[in-house]
Amino acid sequence: MPFRTTVRRELLFVLLQGCLVLAQSTNPSTYMDNALNAAGVLNDVYYNASTGLWNNLWWNSGNALTAITDVAKADSNYASTAEGIFATTFQNAPGRGGGPGWTNNFYDDEGWWALGWIDAFDLTSNQSYFAAAADIYNDMQTGDNATCGGHWWDKPHSANTAIGNELYLSVAAHLAERTSGDDRTGYLNDALNEWNWFKNSGLIDTNNIVHDGLDLSTCQVDAGSPTFTYNQGVILGGLISLNNVSPDPSYLQTASNIAHAVLAHMVDDNGILIEYGGSLTPDENASQFKGVFVRNLMALQQVQPDSAYVSFLQKNADSLWANARDSSSGLIGPDWQGPFEDNDMSSQNSAVSCLLAAYVASQ
Ligand SMILES: *[C@@H]1O[C@H](CO)[C@@H](O)[C@H](O)[C@H]1NC(C)=O
Ligand SMILES: *[C@@H]1O[C@H](CO)[C@@H](O)[C@H](O)[C@H]1NC(C)=O
Ligand SMILES: *[C@@H]1O[C@H](CO)[C@@H](O)[C@H](O)[C@H]1NC(C)=O
Ligand SMILES: *[C@@H]1O[C@H](CO)[C@@H](O)[C@H](O)[C@H]1NC(C)=O
Repeated sequence: MPFRTTVRRELLFVLLQGCLVLAQSTNPSTYMDNALNAAGVLNDVYYNASTGLWNNLWWNSGNALTAITDVAKADSNYASTAEGIFATTFQNAPGRGGGPGWTNNFYDDEGWWALGWIDAFDLTSNQSYFAAAADIYNDMQTGDNATCGGHWWDKPHSANTAIGNELYLSVAAHLAERTSGDDRTGYLNDALNEWNWFKNSGLIDTNNIVHDGLDLSTCQVDAGSPTFTYNQGVILGGLISLNNVSPDPSYLQTASNIAHAVLAHMVDDNGILIEYGGSLTPDENASQFKGVFVRNLMALQQVQPDSAYVSFLQKNADSLWANARDSSSGLIGPDWQGPFEDNDMSSQNSAVSCLLAAYVASQ
């Protein structure tokens, strides 16, 4: 009997310890340390000062710029690093995307840079960055009035995509938020027109999942249309911003519906985000998408807190750190459930956004 009691006590102790470990979530400051570590690797390995780009990639670098800006917003010690990069990129990157300045033939590429410079403006209050975003937007406006309504994806008018329309909405609403008078009215009208078209376009399906694009001959979503994670991401930031300028409860309700649809339908059994198509065709474009989603979910959590978002972001940050990261190099791959493979610049900056989102959501 005494023997058994001892054993039972020990067993209970071991079990309790296990429960404590399981129940103990990662310390929030650890997420910030990890985000800083991943951002350091992003810049050390991929940033090229002579081009002002990360791995000389164009639209993805607009996202890397946003990812490091968000890190600096959360940790003021990082601001000087981010500001040094803004100055170098602002000087050396224009014209490298295939067109003059920050423009080229792809309206979505333009949108990423516009959002990146708006983020840099928010951190620094430097009007040069705001002016760059406003100039980019002027060029984006030339893609209006697509065949099926909404906005063209590109200047040759080859496609009408969710991402092109979401970015147009988000940039217009962000500009409206930061302007006054006629400028604000103009941006707001564009954003409202875009949203009124988008919500009835068929791009959002009955499960609240956003599809990638429309068939130009039918103006319907193709049955097999992809549902990339970034399609579910940019729309959240656009609706948050639209709600800030012109409040309407339906905007955040729609954002919440889309976010919850992702948490229900686009994850594995452990709740870890999966990209459309899984890891079958990993490349530097597909591996960018998840960072966009979690960054915008972080923004939604800030205006409309939801414990489901917090636990999703923490789980994904924990998993990518434990399973998708090479601990000797600090590089992180695109499959957050692991293993570490197929890493590139975009998977690195996506990981930065996830780690940071977990930190911000844990506050
Ligand atoms: C930076 O980009 C330039 C121009 O493409 C290239 O010549 C150079 O090798 C790159 N540097 C690094 C470190 O990748
Ligand atoms: C604003 O940013 C531009 C471009 O990086 C830079 O040349 C300028 O010095 C900055 N202005 C201020 C007031 O910091
Ligand atoms: C789109 O149509 C509106 C309304 O007719 C017009 O004011 C605007 O200039 C058009 N934009 C473009 C890029 O064609
Ligand atoms: C990624 O997208 C760019 C256009 O933004 C394209 O030029 C490039 O070929 C794509 N990369 C891959 C690996 O598909």
